[in-house]
Amino acid sequence: MGIIVVVGLFMLLLLGFLALSHFKPLIIKYDGSGGGSSGLLIPDGSLGWPVIGETLGFLEPHPSTSLGSFLQNHCSKYGKVFKSHLFLAPTVVSCDQELNCFILQNEGALFECSYPKPIHGILGKLSMLVAVGDTHRRLRSAALSLVSVTKSKPQFLNDIERAALEVLGSWRNEDRVLFCEDARKFTFNVIVKQVLGLTPDEPRTRAILHDFVTFMRGLVSIPLYIPGTPYARAVQARQRISSSVRSIMEERRQAGRGGWNATSSDFLEILLGMDTLSDDEKLSFILDSLLGGYETTSLLMSMVVYFLGQSSAAFEQAKLEHQRIRSRKKEDECLSWDDYKKMEFTQKVMNEALRCGNIVKFVHRKALKDVRFKGFYIPRGWKVLPVLSAANLDPTLHANPLQFHPWRWESHDQTSKKFTPFGGGSRCCPGFELAKLEVAFFLHHLLLNFRWKIEDEEEQPIAYPYVEFKTGLALRVESCSNMS
Ligand code: HEM
Repeated sequence: MGIIVVVGLFMLLLLGFLALSHFKPLIIKYDGSGGGSSGLLIPDGSLGWPVIGETLGFLEPHPSTSLGSFLQNHCSKYGKVFKSHLFLAPTVVSCDQELNCFILQNEGALFECSYPKPIHGILGKLSMLVAVGDTHRRLRSAALSLVSVTKSKPQFLNDIERAALEVLGSWRNEDRVLFCEDARKFTFNVIVKQVLGLTPDEPRTRAILHDFVTFMRGLVSIPLYIPGTPYARAVQARQRISSSVRSIMEERRQAGRGGWNATSSDFLEILLGMDTLSDDEKLSFILDSLLGGYETTSLLMSMVVYFLGQSSAAFEQAKLEHQRIRSRKKEDECLSWDDYKKMEFTQKVMNEALRCGNIVKFVHRKALKDVRFKGFYIPRGWKVLPVLSAANLDPTLHANPLQFHPWRWESHDQTSKKFTPFGGGSRCCPGFELAKLEVAFFLHHLLLNFRWKIEDEEEQPIAYPYVEFKTGLALRVESCSNMS
């Protein structure tokens, strides 16, 4: 659920806050030098301007393949862990892999997920990303069960392939495509089918997609609930999506469909049979899955295509892997879970694209207690931002970190706690395997059927901090087979 995670989007949100704080001045009551009872010091750093602190610098756009000048300058001045004032709160920023791991692993005990309030307004208080304690545990356990029964189901795998072939089929007479747009179309079609059982051509799917786009725009807008603002439109779009989902739930109940059995076809059907979640929680779960399964997965596809477009050796090796897999199958035979397991080089390509592309730059936490770690003191109540991209680009952890080199994963542990593109601990992304599966299957057909070149050599992913390709990753494509 990178989009929200990356909600660094807060530059705009902050501006909204600033307007409000005009009427209710915020006084920073600490001097920032700290000093715990043990004599340890709050990390060195700067608190920046009153109220706004250093938020604008922190959120300044930069290529997502780099740390950005704010973090680079602060790390060289103060070290990998420093204090700041961000998103209206005193904050400890961590670019230290060990501290990041400690923060993620101590969720609920020393730290807690803490996304800014306006996000709650849009996602709702039952969203997994903002829920804590028992509610979070129940929602998460449902998510993990659903993913584990879904990921290897032939029907799900076939749906992914069908959606991939549909998008790639539309390229047949094209020599130029806007990849990000098609990637979004693909991931939306896959997730809406998997979650609600809807196909792309149904009017309901189109209405949900339309509301969804409005909803996503609201996530990156000023949080002012005034009719007509993107924020207000997003809240209303969420309400419309909710009522569509509610009516689908009702129809299913009336048709007696709901429950967990071998033929259950989508998340909703399985959810309806769960008695550990209330209806509102089920609804929120559906929205989380749609949101989580859409933008971040399509971004990973774009990253993979972007980096493979620049590395002919990786392109050829990945293509060979998929040709081998295809050669052992009958003509038009669908891909299986076993085939996915054989895509070893593709896994390395995806890891490397996640490492270099940094889809989720940081996550939001707060300290529940006074915390001491590696000689630092983090006061209770402070915001804590583990910067996930910092470890990815750290030359002490990855040789030549700026180089896209999938082969490095031959010796790196791909499941290491040091590599956290999907977060970690009890908040680790429950959808990561689904995302990788979708990307790998799409890539299978893409590599077997097309070659591509990035149209604009200057094109690169930019962290705004939510990552985007400026021109939507325009590709020159050339078909290299007769696609069925
Ligand atoms: C490349 C694709 C993806 C990336 C990079 C990604 C990244 C992340 C990250 C970093 C977190 C942790 C947030 C935190 O610690 O605050 C997260 C959480 C989450 N993701 Fe993903 N995600 C991806 C795909 C998906 C998919 C496909 C789904 C659902 C189908 C999904 C659903 C979620 C949910 C529900 C959470 C909240 C988990 C919790 O708080 O327990 N994500 N994701």
